Amino acid sequence: MKKIIIDTDGGHDDILALYLSILSKKLDILGVTCVAGNSKLQNVERNCQYALTQLNCYDTPIFSGADKPLSKKLTTAVVHGQSGLEGAELSQVKLLNLQKASAVDFIIDTVNQYPHEVTILTLGPLTNIALALNKDPQLASKVNEIVIMGGAINVPGNQNRVAEYNFYVDPDAASIVLGSKVDKVLIPLDPCNEVIISESEFFRLPNTLFVKSIIDMIKPFIRNIKSHLDVNGALVYDAIAAYYLICSNQFKLSPMDILIETDGVLTRGMCVIEKRNEIDKIPNILVAVDVNVNSFKNDFFRMLAHY
Ligand code: RIB
Ligand code: CA
Repeated sequence: MKKIIIDTDGGHDDILALYLSILSKKLDILGVTCVAGNSKLQNVERNCQYALTQLNCYDTPIFSGADKPLSKKLTTAVVHGQSGLEGAELSQVKLLNLQKASAVDFIIDTVNQYPHEVTILTLGPLTNIALALNKDPQLASKVNEIVIMGGAINVPGNQNRVAEYNFYVDPDAASIVLGSKVDKVLIPLDPCNEVIISESEFFRLPNTLFVKSIIDMIKPFIRNIKSHLDVNGALVYDAIAAYYLICSNQFKLSPMDILIETDGVLTRGMCVIEKRNEIDKIPNILVAVDVNVNSFKNDFFRMLAHY
């Protein structure tokens, strides 16, 4: 099975990505590292524990990471609510999987323990990954691949006119990671915006306690998306990024030369793509430009239904 580390900011779609990654039975999740983003770090840790507890995964370690971006002030996401996982029953969560080691040290130690074998799936701001690359300059040459949910290529941003949330929150970290020598795959808003899951589609799932917990959290998520993004259904960005690790053949990739705007007043977090014909492009990332929506939905619901 593919060895992976999941770096996450613990929102609704992050939790769905964790469920998919575990239920696919194709991924060896070595650890879950938490980063502040959708909500403050303590909420992210708790939300990740909630997800692992739902699936009785007490062997998967959780690590605490950066509580704010490299240089910017933390901007939490409104669509996930105050807790970062609005609608989920979080009051009884006990942090049984949380480890003492830091997320950055876990990433460095694990990649060095399994050189060229570990894939890092990033579902939030890239702060932890940038810190790890800075702390161990050899790390980039030993990571198998980084699969990144982030960016907007030919669609508007979801945090400002041009920037996707994860890259907006910590553009400096995004710039460092995209500038690194690691093999990278980007899952941007473009394919993710094509996958909108309605409440009624979730209601087709079998009436299990697990499904009820999903519906309890998805209802406010859909309500918040409607009011803030005017979209009628759940946008499950991170679950699509996780799906790339499960079924990469359902995606169409294109190499691109991308830099990240780190300080623009209007364009902070923007993916600035080299499109000039007269300039030699130096592709630094493979970008998912399309996903098979039906295949994703079929597999997504099949896996959630069989727990
Ligand atoms: O822009 C979507 C991304 O920002 C997703 O990872 C979502 O969870 C939020 O973190
Ligand atoms: Ca996320």
